[in-house]
Amino acid sequence: MTVFNHLERHYVGLFLSAMIIYFLVYTQTSIVLFSVRSENVFLESSCSCKTCVMDPMDDDWFVYRYNPSVSPLLNRKNSELPQDTYNWWLGLQRSSLNVSYTKVMDQLFSLFPDEEHYSDGGPDRCRTCAVVGNSGNLVGSHYGGLIDFHDVVIRINKGPTKGYEKDVGSKTTHRILYPESAVDLDNSTHLVLFPFKILDMQWLISSFTTGHITRTYMPVRPTINANIDKVMILHPGFIKYVYDSWLHRRGRYPSTGFITLIFALHICDEVNIFGFGASSDGTWHHYFDKTKMNYKGGPHGGDHENKTMHELLQRNKISLYKGY
Ligand code: C5P
Repeated sequence: MTVFNHLERHYVGLFLSAMIIYFLVYTQTSIVLFSVRSENVFLESSCSCKTCVMDPMDDDWFVYRYNPSVSPLLNRKNSELPQDTYNWWLGLQRSSLNVSYTKVMDQLFSLFPDEEHYSDGGPDRCRTCAVVGNSGNLVGSHYGGLIDFHDVVIRINKGPTKGYEKDVGSKTTHRILYPESAVDLDNSTHLVLFPFKILDMQWLISSFTTGHITRTYMPVRPTINANIDKVMILHPGFIKYVYDSWLHRRGRYPSTGFITLIFALHICDEVNIFGFGASSDGTWHHYFDKTKMNYKGGPHGGDHENKTMHELLQRNKISLYKGY
């Protein structure tokens, strides 16, 4: 009996030791697995580029300004505007008040694509974008090849490529413009309208149909060559968001260059900027003409736009190619 008790105690001891060892090994492994897993969750990138606009989202300055849920582009479904946005937008430039916004939306989206663009972001996407401003610092830069290497090349207003390919490239996937800055586009380029007033949207419709709008606050092109299936319209709510969140209401409204930069932050994973800022001799002119510009005055908060762009640079959200 005593031998049996002794043996029994021995086996119970062994069993308990085995249980304790198993428990310790199991919990240790779980802890290691858990920390590896949570580290992966923490490290999982928002895109597959080397750097991603959205990574990391722990920068208070950026998170305070960047709202990924704002739609940059207009479609029928998101076209209704909150009253304060509508009033703000109507106040940007004088326009006829006897037009129904809803009616214009109907006309717009029975003519142009009514789509939800660019909601395809994720860890497997790497969309690189070049935003090409019109600064004279592009002259002699030899950036052409580099610019064309991007998936998306966004140009602004009249900035030409023909004759300037070496410095500015030849590819244009998007061109942001408004009636007063319109030029002809090739078939593969998205026309992206920056609407300052309802009349700009009416002009867009007219320029692809009747051609009857020939004047806004100045004479405008009655028609333009562009692919009707590639037309996009910046959302008035996006324009207000850029003004409120990014410019803290400096100036009257964002410049085309600045709105294009924030548009790129919303649709791209990696953003590189070309043709922004003065030339090395301090002059502000276009690469395609010699007219001196002043980007600090006018309706835009030029200084604040510049400061914000440099904050984005310091935070590695964009890269700037300064040119010459
Ligand atoms: O002159 P425009 O408005 O067509 O230029 C488009 C954009 O290019 C501007 O809004 C500005 O951001 C940028 N630009 C610049 N320096 C220049 C000319 C243009 O930064 N000298």
